Order: sequence, then C-alpha cells, then structure tokens
Amino acid sequence: MGLLSDKICLVTGAASNPGLGHAIAHCFAAEGATVIATDVDADGAKATADSIKSAGGRASSWRQDVTDPDGWQATLGRIRDDYGRIDAVVNNAGIVVLKRLEEMTLEDYNRQMVVNMTSVFLGTQSAVAMMRETGTKGSIINMSSVAALVGVIGVTAYAASKGGVLGFTKAVAAETAPEGIRCNTIHPGMIATNMNKQAADENTDEYEALTSAIPMGYMGPPKTIGDAALFLASDLSSYITGTQLVVDGGMINQ
Ligand SMILES: NC(=O)c1ccc[n+]([C@@H]2O[C@H](COP(=O)([O-])OP(=O)(O)OC[C@H]3O[C@@H](n4cnc5c(N)ncnc54)[C@H](O)[C@@H]3O)[C@@H](O)[C@H]2O)c1
Repeated sequence: MGLLSDKICLVTGAASNPGLGHAIAHCFAAEGATVIATDVDADGAKATADSIKSAGGRASSWRQDVTDPDGWQATLGRIRDDYGRIDAVVNNAGIVVLKRLEEMTLEDYNRQMVVNMTSVFLGTQSAVAMMRETGTKGSIINMSSVAALVGVIGVTAYAASKGGVLGFTKAVAAETAPEGIRCNTIHPGMIATNMNKQAADENTDEYEALTSAIPMGYMGPPKTIGDAALFLASDLSSYITGTQLVVDGGMINQ
C-alpha cells in the first residue's frame, strides 16, 4: 500500500523537466496515485504521463491553460467522468519575470498575477466545489515561494502573486476545514528546474550570490518539493491545514 493508493490527483504545470510539477507527479504516482498531469505544453505533459507509465505508474495528461475558467470546468468535469472524484489538486503552474521595480511593466505584473494567482483561485474554487459535491475530504496544495515571506530582489510582481497565494490559501483553509477539505501552501527556495536555469542564465551575478547564500550549499533537487507535496496530499498530514511549508535548504530559516 502506497501513501496515495487509490487517490486521484491533478498536478498542473507538469510538463517542464526538470520541473516541480514533473517531480510531484512522479512522487505521487510512485506512492500509488492515479495522476492527471496537465500543462499548456500538451506534449510535455504527455511526456510526463508516459514516463510515469513506463515506471509502472498510472497517469493521463491533457492540455490545460490554468488561466482559463472554462479549461478548469473541462478538466474537473473530465476527471469526474473518468474517476468520479478528485482527492488532491496541486496548483503548481507558474511563471517568473525577473526585473527590478523600475523596469517591471504593467503587462509583466498583470501576466504574473493571472498565471500565478488568478489560476490558483480558479483551480481551488473548482476543486473545492467538486470535493463538496462528492463528499471528498481532499487536499489542495498551492505553490507559493519564499518570495512571499522575505524580500527578494527582482521579483516584485512575482512576490505579490505568491503572497496572494499564501493569504488566499489560509482563507480557503478557514472556510473548508469543517468539511475536512485541507488547503496548504509550499514555499520552495531555489530549486534546480528549467525556471531557475533560464533565470540564472539571464542574471548570472544575482543567481551566484543567491545560491552561495543557501546554508545547505546547493540548489534543491525537484524531488524535495515532490516529497513535501506528497506529505501534504497524504493522510500523514491529515490534521494540517492553512499551513505554509517552507522547503529551502535553510535559505530563510523561519
Ligand atoms: N524552481 C524554483 O526554485 C521555485 C521556487 C519557488 C516557487 N516555484 C514555483 O513552483 C512552480 C513550478 O516552478 P518550476 O520551477 O517547475 O517552473 P518551470 O518553468 O520549470 O515549469 C513551470 C510549468 O508551468 C507551465 N505553465 C506556465 N504557464 C502555464 C499556464 N498558463 N497554464 C498551464 N501551465 C503553465 C509551463 O509550461 C511549465 O511546464 C511555479 O509556480 C513556481 O513559481 C519555483
């Protein structure tokens, strides 16, 4: 019996490899979950599902733009038709635009708010509705960042979106706790994914300084976030809701 045996779990932003969604999807499947991997990059999401199946797990995939309300209805409707319920949703898809305040445009700001924050509102609202309808005591995991908790240079708009995710998740947790529906955030520090690779290539000096300041001395492997999400999705965390789980190699030490 795995920690997520018989659980139906949706992971958004699951295409990028190395990426957090990809790692979370693999950690869930390895513990017995049936994983639905979605992403705007349909081929990448399929590659994630295929790699899970090759490893002996259960997975399917399709294209989903997390900013699209109709896409959320379609995704959860399909999951309901295929599996009857949803046990865990990881709202993981996200983007970052690294610019200092004076260079950040309104378009940069709005795009990050919609992809990182509005998507979490849409995903959480649809998931809670389906969990209520089916009487499922599910787990919702929203991907925030250490940037929601401490000041990080170059990410003003991103930090606003991730801070929004934190406050939103706590309010949802307060509303849904009586029904046994749990809602928590994960706050990764610097994890070695495509997002960070691209950002590091564009901002070499700032990234070197940030990496060398991590007390554990290295960027986190994506699986460390997969394991944190596994804990929050499973019954190991059955009495935990509204919490913020920081996974950062001691970077902010709180
Ligand atoms: N990597 C880190 O160090 C780090 C740190 C803190 C927080 N995070 C957060 O973790 C999450 C995953 O980050 P990552 O490092 O794996 O990034 P990544 O860029 O490697 O992967 C992000 C994935 O999201 C998908 N995506 C982007 N916009 C989308 C949309 N509108 N609809 C659906 N999918 C979309 C991309 O196609 C990609 O597959 C993000 O929310 C990110 O902000 C990452």
